[in-house]
Amino acid sequence: MIATKYKKNHPVCSEQEIQMTIQSLSSKGRFTSEKTFLHHRETTVYDHSVHVAEVSLAIANSLPFSFDMNSLTRGALLHDYFLYHRNESVKTYVTHGYRHPIIAADNAKADYGINDIEENIIRRHMFPLTPIPPKYREAWVVCIADKCCATLEFLPARITRHHLSNGHSYS
Ligand SMILES: [Fe+2]
Ligand SMILES: [Fe+2]
Repeated sequence: MIATKYKKNHPVCSEQEIQMTIQSLSSKGRFTSEKTFLHHRETTVYDHSVHVAEVSLAIANSLPFSFDMNSLTRGALLHDYFLYHRNESVKTYVTHGYRHPIIAADNAKADYGINDIEENIIRRHMFPLTPIPPKYREAWVVCIADKCCATLEFLPARITRHHLSNGHSYS
């Protein structure tokens, strides 16, 4: 078992941590159904969430602070666990930005019994669009990583092809 609870100047192996957490989340709940929902351009919610987890762990590993790495990884992977097609109606399209963190947190709570840090990561990741800021440093990291990843995913494929082709694939 890798020591992933808290990091203090001991970076965790991001690839291993993410893979183990994906296996755990996939063994119950609806995590793998994120593969059926498109998010940014051609990126699925699943791939976006893995991308956010990779960037979040990279940020945490580069900082001289302690992080709850289990909660950071789970929160990053579940931060968009809203489980619907954004374009299915005008209402969902218009209100998505504000409502999906609440829906995602409720879904994650029902399926996985998330802790306070994980819930805060999910509920506050859209700050400052939603006005209440993150409470925990793990939630700040995911909030920043999400914006970086969303920006990259919206860029034309010819710009991001090199970046994505060097990434890991998780199934
Ligand atoms: Fe989101
Ligand atoms: Fe996101």
